Amino acid sequence: MSATEKTVAVVREMAAAMEEHRRHLTKLDSEIGDGDHGNNMHRGFGAALERLEGAEPATPADALKAVSMALISKVGGAAGPLYGTAFLRAATALAGKKDPSPEDVAEALEAAVGGVKQRGKAEVGDKTMVDALQPAAGAAKEAAASGGGAGEVLRAAAEAANEGSETTVPLTARRGRANYLGERAVGHMDPGARSSYLLLDAAARALGA
Ligand SMILES: Nc1ncnc2c1ncn2[C@@H]1O[C@H](COP(=O)(O)OP(=O)(O)OP(=O)(O)O)[C@@H](O)[C@H]1O
Ligand SMILES: [Mg+2]
Repeated sequence: MSATEKTVAVVREMAAAMEEHRRHLTKLDSEIGDGDHGNNMHRGFGAALERLEGAEPATPADALKAVSMALISKVGGAAGPLYGTAFLRAATALAGKKDPSPEDVAEALEAAVGGVKQRGKAEVGDKTMVDALQPAAGAAKEAAASGGGAGEVLRAAAEAANEGSETTVPLTARRGRANYLGERAVGHMDPGARSSYLLLDAAARALGA
């Protein structure tokens, strides 16, 4: 399978995960937001996959760019533009690479997180997807440095994102809708942090890790 085909397989697995976990993500968002996150993500990744299957991307970067465009145009609210930015930054980081190395994959993830932080002005501890994505990028970099393949890099990222999503539970929020809830957000996991974990887990699984 070419790297481009693998990228499409990753997105297919992500779309399946958003379908499978739609209700759970919506439940999390109904506890501290407006209850649309599962539907937003499901709609967005469905559109992304549709766009990809019609697009015949030539490189992994082309595929990620198509996903970005679909997310930005089909998902309203906070998460669409944020994830759209993440995929666009990842595409830019991988531009011109036909067969990205594990280090390239880790760098693309780091670029994606940087885009989310810049666009959403969130830092670790604000109870957002950044709490999952930032440690994921760190773990990915370490895994690549110690010789892991792309699948292992994404698996390490997913595990760190899983732990990162758990760390959002006791927090109050400083960004997004949950910010208006003050102490009432305590005890609930941030839906965007959870979807970040689910997306990385899907990516790792698509690469057999
Ligand atoms: N400024 C931000 N920076 C990073 N992540 C954010 C920010 N604002 C929201 N999020 C993430 O987006 C998630 C909510 O996504 P969702 O799809 O529910 O959009 P939304 O907040 O309902 O959008 P809107 O309020 O505009 O309808 C949160 O759980 C959080 O992880
Ligand atoms: Mg919402």
